[in-house]
Amino acid sequence: MTWSETDQEKILSLVRKHEAKPTQLLQILRDVQEEFHCVPKDAMEIIATELKVSRTTVLAVVEFYSLLSLEQQGRFHILLSDSITDQMLGSRKLMDHLSAKLGVEPGQTRADGLVSLGFTSCTGLCDQGPAGLVNGHWLSRLDGERIDSIVDYVEREIPLDNWPAEFFKVEDNIQSTGLLLESPIENGAALKQAVRNGFDDIFVEINRSGLRGRGGAGFKAAWKWRFCFEGPENSAGLPLAVQTDRYVICNADEGEPGTFKDRILLNSHAHQVFEGMTVCAGVVGAKRGFLYLRGEYLRLRPQLEAVLASRRAKNLLGTSILGRQGFDFEIEIHMGAGAYICGEESALIESLEGKPGMPRVRPPYPIDNGYLGQPTVVNNVETFASVAAIAAYGGAWFASRGTDKSKGSKIISISGDCERPGIYEYDFGVSIAEILLDCGAEHTLGVQVGGPSGGIISNKEYHRKLAFEDLATGGSFMIFDKTRDILEIVRNFTHFFAHESCGFCTPCRVGTTLLKNQVDKFCDGHSGALDLVGMTSLAKFIKSASHCGLGQSAGNPLLGALAHYPDAFKARLKDIDFEPGFDLDESLETARRMSLRDDPMAHLEQEGI
Ligand SMILES: Cc1cc2nc3c(=O)[nH]c(=O)nc-3n(C[C@H](O)[C@H](O)[C@H](O)COP(=O)(O)O)c2cc1C
Ligand code: SF4
Repeated sequence: MTWSETDQEKILSLVRKHEAKPTQLLQILRDVQEEFHCVPKDAMEIIATELKVSRTTVLAVVEFYSLLSLEQQGRFHILLSDSITDQMLGSRKLMDHLSAKLGVEPGQTRADGLVSLGFTSCTGLCDQGPAGLVNGHWLSRLDGERIDSIVDYVEREIPLDNWPAEFFKVEDNIQSTGLLLESPIENGAALKQAVRNGFDDIFVEINRSGLRGRGGAGFKAAWKWRFCFEGPENSAGLPLAVQTDRYVICNADEGEPGTFKDRILLNSHAHQVFEGMTVCAGVVGAKRGFLYLRGEYLRLRPQLEAVLASRRAKNLLGTSILGRQGFDFEIEIHMGAGAYICGEESALIESLEGKPGMPRVRPPYPIDNGYLGQPTVVNNVETFASVAAIAAYGGAWFASRGTDKSKGSKIISISGDCERPGIYEYDFGVSIAEILLDCGAEHTLGVQVGGPSGGIISNKEYHRKLAFEDLATGGSFMIFDKTRDILEIVRNFTHFFAHESCGFCTPCRVGTTLLKNQVDKFCDGHSGALDLVGMTSLAKFIKSASHCGLGQSAGNPLLGALAHYPDAFKARLKDIDFEPGFDLDESLETARRMSLRDDPMAHLEQEGI
């Protein structure tokens, strides 16, 4: 693109909007992408100079996040979700249709610069797919007719504001409520309680509730907060007052395919989530907090900003909250930019600091060394919503439900083959059979609990319980009926991990791509018994040798499916010892042309093919 003084001024004003802070680099680049439909080279130069960082620092961030692009994208940039449930609803066919009508391939920008197409891992709309994004905004319930209309609006260059509202309509889709969703707190109720009784008392209640983190790992919230409050200075023998800052981060990255419960909490219970963060800040002594919102949830941002503004106006945020001297807390929203790994807490903190979201080496953990090296609490959206309810109603109220080791309730996101996909809340301890009955799932093959990084359970295990001591989940519950091919599910999940690997460590960076190729070969019916052995040991190796939870889960889909559905694998095995993964003779064609040889001796005979 040609670069004008006006363009230069636009970049400078975006940098100024973010006070030229290096921690704001990702936010600045998001704004540049929105304005220019790419991040131009000249823009990177200006940003690097203004932020006083190197050009390669800026380039590394642009290259890391999938919603940023060095290449010019269309004025309408349309992405369709490639999540397995969207694929099951026909997203691939819809893309073929869209691509044919617009005359542009996925991954390309049309020559006139009007439109570009692509796939994205997941949009958080698995209950109302096939779904997509246009210029970062949700598109829900796509079908052939809607795609035709979209093509028409694009070709006539109608601005998104004038597209029909139903294209973007996203419902909460709550099918059943439980402990949390049935008892939303009144705004300020938890904070009033905290100010009245003191934060020590609130901490006792959180501890009494037995609340464990809802993001997946299930770490006890009270322990995490205590470690953060005590901080590294405690073990170093320094008085707490000497210490500087503490931070509270709400993890709203929600990138695990099949998970969308945080979307609902942020859409309809944002006050409660922010109140939980503020309670946490009072307990650990933090003055600043962040909501890290996944890039695909852009549509929620204006209303979340409005909730924050109304809380400031009611003195539920800001200085001397509810009149309590020294109780100061502010929350900022930071947007992600399309990287599943940024849900991992240390990668999220890197991203918040404006860097590529690569997981840190741990220990030290965020509670000691988090945002800008300071003690930081990272909790999930649902965890903070629960905190506010516990502060308002008491720890005993919460602990009276659930199981011994898993107190309270869990909100799950149900998608896939069932009559009523959507949001369901259950006390911990509910059986899988009961959930399947409620959502109208029949003739099932199995259920993927916890998304691609979780595990599959077959239809012989529906007596199992949703609980940390049995089936733990961040909230994703994908149902597959008997018409589904388990190998295609494994293929989709394995591709997902290869796409989302951050590239920091070799076992995951190289291993997930090798595994993807081997799974493709197997699914396409070109693998023998030896291939299967190799593929299995590769999956185990990636699991054991990778640096973070992503790599450690990347082999789960293959290993889980193999354990539960061995016959499906046997049926696809080819009766050979070895078949190459590519045609060597065909691959040598270019070399033959360059050396002007096409005699029989220049060709390879590959036996047994
Ligand atoms: C690859 C990966 C992705 C993750 N994504 C999320 C996420 O989207 N949301 C979340 O709350 N936790 C996610 N986690 C877990 C976080 O690292 C962290 O444990 C969690 O935010 C802590 O909050 P909790 O204690 O309230 O569960 C992810 C972990 C890994 C390894
Ligand atoms: S395991 Fe994968 S995602 Fe995690 S640090 Fe290594 S390369 Fe990155």
